[in-house]
Amino acid sequence: MDFKSKIRVVEDFPVKGISFKDITTLLQDGEAYAAAIKEMAAMVETLEFDVVVGPEARGFLTGAPLSILTKTGFVPIRKPGKLPYDTIQHAYELEYGTDTLEIHADAIQEGMKVLVVDDLLATGGTSKAVCELIEKLGGEVAGLAFLIELDFLGGRALLDGYNVKSLVHYN
Ligand code: PRP
Repeated sequence: MDFKSKIRVVEDFPVKGISFKDITTLLQDGEAYAAAIKEMAAMVETLEFDVVVGPEARGFLTGAPLSILTKTGFVPIRKPGKLPYDTIQHAYELEYGTDTLEIHADAIQEGMKVLVVDDLLATGGTSKAVCELIEKLGGEVAGLAFLIELDFLGGRALLDGYNVKSLVHYN
């Protein structure tokens, strides 16, 4: 399937000069959404993992269905203050300032193999932080799977050493 034709590109969102890849048009097309998740599952077929981890919010829309399809569990990563039980945090640098992500401290056990799933690989900052959280808990990142990769932002280089797979590329 031509997934690019299902993704709406919105110019100058959220700020001037950004060409935003809007996946809502793909999500509302049942055939396209199902096909995208199926192809992402095929992409990671050779990887061994016990659980899928996805960051809010769009990582839930890709990670959760992929975990159902692969019959693995799903662990959410959230912005601070949203998870009810004991958490660990990781702060990471943005262009201006920092951001923090949290995971439940008991969500990943020592030696667990984890697949990181998100809708988009841009600078790689979010995914790198997700990997740090998994590794702080003793998990092993089996790979990362994205619906979209913005090749020109070089996020893949930040994730050097990890197995990174993306369904749709923008150059
Ligand atoms: C977007 C996207 C990824 C991240 C990619 O999330 O869903 O998680 O940015 O960017 P990066 O590779 O430069 O880190 P966003 O922070 O916009 O949150 P949302 O999913 O809640 O909209």
